[in-house]
Amino acid sequence: MRYIGSKERLLDFIEGFINEKVESVQNPTFADLFCGTAVVSKHFKQRGFNVIANDLLTTCTIWAKAALTDLENIPFERLFDSDEINQNMDYSNLLIADNYDLVLNHLNKITPKKGFIYREYTLEGTRDSAFQRMYFTEENACKIDAIRHQIGIWKDNNFITEDEEALLLASLLNAVNKVANIAGTYGAFLKEWDKRAFNPLNLERMAVECTSSPRLNHEVYQMDVLELAPNIQADVVYLDPPYNFRQYGAYYHILETIAIGDSPFIDGKTGLRPWKDKKSDFCYSDKAASALTQLVNNLDCKHIFLSYNADGVLQHEEILEILSSKGNVDFIDVNFQRYKSNNGGTGVKKVKERLYYVGS
Ligand SMILES: C[S@@+](CC[C@H](N)C(=O)[O-])C[C@H]1O[C@@H](n2cnc3c(N)ncnc32)[C@H](O)[C@@H]1O
Repeated sequence: MRYIGSKERLLDFIEGFINEKVESVQNPTFADLFCGTAVVSKHFKQRGFNVIANDLLTTCTIWAKAALTDLENIPFERLFDSDEINQNMDYSNLLIADNYDLVLNHLNKITPKKGFIYREYTLEGTRDSAFQRMYFTEENACKIDAIRHQIGIWKDNNFITEDEEALLLASLLNAVNKVANIAGTYGAFLKEWDKRAFNPLNLERMAVECTSSPRLNHEVYQMDVLELAPNIQADVVYLDPPYNFRQYGAYYHILETIAIGDSPFIDGKTGLRPWKDKKSDFCYSDKAASALTQLVNNLDCKHIFLSYNADGVLQHEEILEILSSKGNVDFIDVNFQRYKSNNGGTGVKKVKERLYYVGS
């Protein structure tokens, strides 16, 4: 998944340190309070934790709901009862396992439709506008519009549940990420077409697990972490805040529009939606320290882990001081390689990611 700061490649590293510090408890809860793509939430659910996931962005709460749901929560029964899906089609060329596959197949074959994404984010759609934008090909934009519209209609008519909606939207967001003509974020589009943009948009199945035994619970919130922190209880809290000026609400604005399903007033060369209600104090060098202090002081839990990049706006010494108000602090470093593709750069840069621990 292309998402800044995703911990997909650091899961073993994070788990190893957590195992070192946390004794096993009955029915443990793991709180992933800046969940992003929810890969960390999902990983710890698979390790037997109840999970609390939270993020400011709608996109991320959709990823979290989709990652944490169980197969039994997505029967798509009401949709099939409604006759919205043609069950008499010839599926002999497809590996169809269940209703979920049939729904994806239906959406992948949908008739394209010119909507907001076509009008605002394609060359053809913006031809007569002040800004010409080339985030998507015409074909893919019309498919995104049609699929988003269809999912919205199904939800409004109560044909799908919240989990089923999240699962379909997560598939759509992931598919969009694969064909967007960008270098990594939606902060800009490429001036030339990347060949991935010409691949036809295709919704794929998300990995959904069977219900675990014993059954695990999960909760997903879309709140500023500073408001949520005093109201949760967890055995382990994992914090992965932004560490530089990049505001996720602005950098992922198109995914957010697709996730929300609205047609906002947009602005400028990149067609930015209003995002300031989702701005994060953790992105500002003059606000991050007090935000982290407030967050840590408001957490009621025994074990806190914090991922932070060595190039972040908070200095190592500052972090140690903030965390030490809670107890004994420890940390480990990992160097991992980040591939830099932006602006023609092809260098591989070593990034030092630090994982802090404070236990009380
Ligand atoms: C470094 S990313 C997390 C990546 C995640 N661990 C993963 O593996 O995908 C930081 C996330 O924090 C969210 N965020 C930033 N400020 C926040 C705040 N004040 N409250 C809640 N979430 C916030 C951003 O939207 C972003 O998704």
